[in-house]
Amino acid sequence: MKEVAKLVIDGKELTLPLIEGSQGEKAIDIRSLRQETGYITFDPGLGNTGACRSSITYMDGEKGILRYRGVPIEQLAEHSTFVETAFLLITGQLPTRDELTRTSVYLNDFSPLHENMKAFYQNYPPKAHPMGILSAMVNAMRSFYPELLDIEEEMNKTYLRLISKIRTMAAMAYRISKGERVVYPRPDLCYCANFLNMMFDSVVIPYHVDKDLVKALNVFLILHADHEQNCSTTAVRVVGSGKVNIYSALSAGISALWGPLHGGANQAVVNMLERIHSEGLTVKECISKARDRNDPFRLMGFGHRVYKTYDPRAKIMKKMCDVILSKIRRKDPLLDIVQELEDAALNDSYFKEKNLYPNVDFYSGIVLRAMGIPTNMFTVMFAIGRLPGWIAQWKEDVADPEMRITRPRQIYSGNLKQDYIPIDDRG
Ligand code: ACO
Repeated sequence: MKEVAKLVIDGKELTLPLIEGSQGEKAIDIRSLRQETGYITFDPGLGNTGACRSSITYMDGEKGILRYRGVPIEQLAEHSTFVETAFLLITGQLPTRDELTRTSVYLNDFSPLHENMKAFYQNYPPKAHPMGILSAMVNAMRSFYPELLDIEEEMNKTYLRLISKIRTMAAMAYRISKGERVVYPRPDLCYCANFLNMMFDSVVIPYHVDKDLVKALNVFLILHADHEQNCSTTAVRVVGSGKVNIYSALSAGISALWGPLHGGANQAVVNMLERIHSEGLTVKECISKARDRNDPFRLMGFGHRVYKTYDPRAKIMKKMCDVILSKIRRKDPLLDIVQELEDAALNDSYFKEKNLYPNVDFYSGIVLRAMGIPTNMFTVMFAIGRLPGWIAQWKEDVADPEMRITRPRQIYSGNLKQDYIPIDDRG
């Protein structure tokens, strides 16, 4: 007999079907609830709500598992490249050698930006945050590259165009913000080496592409490439559900990612560490501030909606941090603070009771600093990494016959009906 859930409301019994995912996760299908009973579910933050079926990313927050299309994140970080991982996420398969070569050719062909797009950058105020610029630029791509035909091959090119150009746009934003000449992409360099070269090459000191830094950047981008139904991915799906073009849906994802509780946490972690360093706060003081409900201070880089154990990405990032810092032989005073904070928090009763562990952002800022990436570009780096995930999720969403325009309900808690009072009678 097929298992069902039974719900008794107002004396009426409702039978609700159960759904089981390929890894055994269970859901109650409540789609008939409102129509049958007049009730809706109430779930602010949607922590108990499955909004879609997805075959892209699997994570188990209790066991600390993360897999893209079934492949463990640890294996991808060790053996894959960002481009290969992006292909896996978007198509569902690891590429053959021929497919990977073809993908690289397209990424190269698409890497320059339309010259007129440069004018946008030049008119932003110098202190504009690069995430705001990036979100606007990706939205603007709809006008510059309108080839959004309903032909699969054209859409596949659009995905690669986006992945390629976001890297050029990010580096260009940085160079222009520093008042420096723009460095154009080079066809002889791979995706990550090309980005580092566009960021740091100079006429005075030509940039030397270091293979360990290229590997570190690949790992950083792979670790950020997807994370199932997080805030920004949900934004992409929600905006996409209105059938807007892909550029606008992705631009919404970039805006959602900017927030300090989400992708902005990597920047917030480094700002927090710098503050601790400059104000000479002790680790004990920080932990007690984080524990204090009346203090808005939170230990940035700790805690996660889904992971109730050590984030598997944070483990890889921590290792990468050691490799990169020993490679460049630079001692970062913030690293000592990070390590002390981690030890103290992991042994603190508040953090233990609430299952608060380091997330990916706890160490990623230190890795990016070591690469020479400025703090205000950290979240942009996250966005470059997350782009293939957003594309894969958007693609899945628009192809899913079960999906409808996203339109949640609410529990209204405002005034009852009241009559309009003309302004002269309002007292
Ligand atoms: N420091 C101190 N206390 C915390 C922290 C933290 N970093 N994170 C959670 N808590 C506490 C909350 O105050 C809350 O306490 P309460 O039960 O007494 O009210 C409890 O733990 C549960 O926290 P919520 O905020 O309700 O958990 P939620 O799942 O909504 O939020 C989030 C998760 C936003 C990640 C949160 O842990 C946080 O703000 N962390 C710091 C920001 C951060 O690192 N974000 C990056 C997330 S990973 C990513 O997006 C890539």
